[in-house]
Amino acid sequence: MKSRFYRPLSLASVSPSYFPEIALYVRNSGNYILYKNHDRQFTEEDRHRLERTNTSFLYVRSGDMDAVTEYLEQNLDTLLARDDIDSNAKGTILYQTAANYVTDVFDEPGKTADIIRCRSLIRHLMKYVAGHEDALKALQAITSQNYYIFTHSVQVAALMMLVHDRLFRLNQDEMIDVGIGSLLHDVGMVFLSGQLLDKPDALAAIEYHKAKQHAQKGYEHLQSAGTLSEVSLTIVRHHHEKYDGSGYPAGLKGDDIPRSAQLAALCDTYCAMTTDRPKHTALPGAEALRIMEDEVGGAFSPDLFYRFADVVKGKGKA
Ligand SMILES: [Fe+2]
Ligand SMILES: [Fe+2]
Repeated sequence: MKSRFYRPLSLASVSPSYFPEIALYVRNSGNYILYKNHDRQFTEEDRHRLERTNTSFLYVRSGDMDAVTEYLEQNLDTLLARDDIDSNAKGTILYQTAANYVTDVFDEPGKTADIIRCRSLIRHLMKYVAGHEDALKALQAITSQNYYIFTHSVQVAALMMLVHDRLFRLNQDEMIDVGIGSLLHDVGMVFLSGQLLDKPDALAAIEYHKAKQHAQKGYEHLQSAGTLSEVSLTIVRHHHEKYDGSGYPAGLKGDDIPRSAQLAALCDTYCAMTTDRPKHTALPGAEALRIMEDEVGGAFSPDLFYRFADVVKGKGKA
C-alpha cells in the first residue's frame, strides 16, 4: 500500500558518489516517470542535466524511504561540510532529512523512543539556523503537498530555535529540548485516523474538532516512551492553548501557559499561514503577521507576539 506513494527528494541531496541503489523518478504533469533504474549509478552528468531543466526535486517510491533516510542521516555530516554545495542546498538537505525523520516517526510512532536520532538532527538544524542569515527563507522554500505535515514540523522546529536563540538565553541542552518538542509537536495526529494523514489537507484538519485531541495524545505517547524532557513534552501538549483560555487541551490562560508553548503556538500559526497548503496560498510574512496581530490578547500574549514579530521581521536582537 505504501509503495503507491512517491516522496520528494531534493536534487542537492542526491550525491553521485554516495547515493544508494534506488530508482529515481521525475514528476511531469502530475505523473511520476522513471528517471533512473535502481541498478544504474546516478552521475554528475545526471545532476547537470537535471539542473539545466530546472529540476530541483526527484522522487522515490515511499517503499524506498527507509534506505533514503538512512543514507541522508549517515551522510549528513559529509554533505553539510562540502564546499561545492551552497548554503541553500544544505538547508534543503537538512530539511529533507529532518522531514524524513518525522515521516518515519508518523509511520511508526514507537520510533520516537530513539531520541539519539532526533537529537542529532536537531543539533544540525540548530547549527544551520544559527549560522545562516537566510535560514528561514531557505527552509520555507520547500513544500510538497503529500509531504506537508512533515515539512511543517521541521519549519516549526527551525523557527522555534531561531526565535529562542534571538530572544532568550537558553543553554544548548534547553535549545535541543525545544527543537525536539517542536519537531514532534503534531505527532499525535498519527493516532487520530489512519487515513487523515494521507489526505492533502491533513494539517487543515487540525483546526477541526476531531483533530483536537492530537496535542494530548501526542503528549501521552511521548511521555510513556520516557525519553523526552519536560520542556519538549510541554510544547507537544500545550501548543494549541490560547492566551484567553479558549485553547486546548487544558484551557490554560495567560502566562499559566508555559512560555515555550506560547511561542510554539506563534511559530505554528505563522508557519502554517506562510506555506502553500491545499486550498490556501501562502501569505507573505508581513500579511500573516497582520492577521495574527488581530489575535493579540485572544490567541497570543501581546508581549510575546511583538517580540516574535520583530524576530520574524529580522529585527530581533542578534
Ligand atoms: Fe498541532
Ligand atoms: Fe502544527
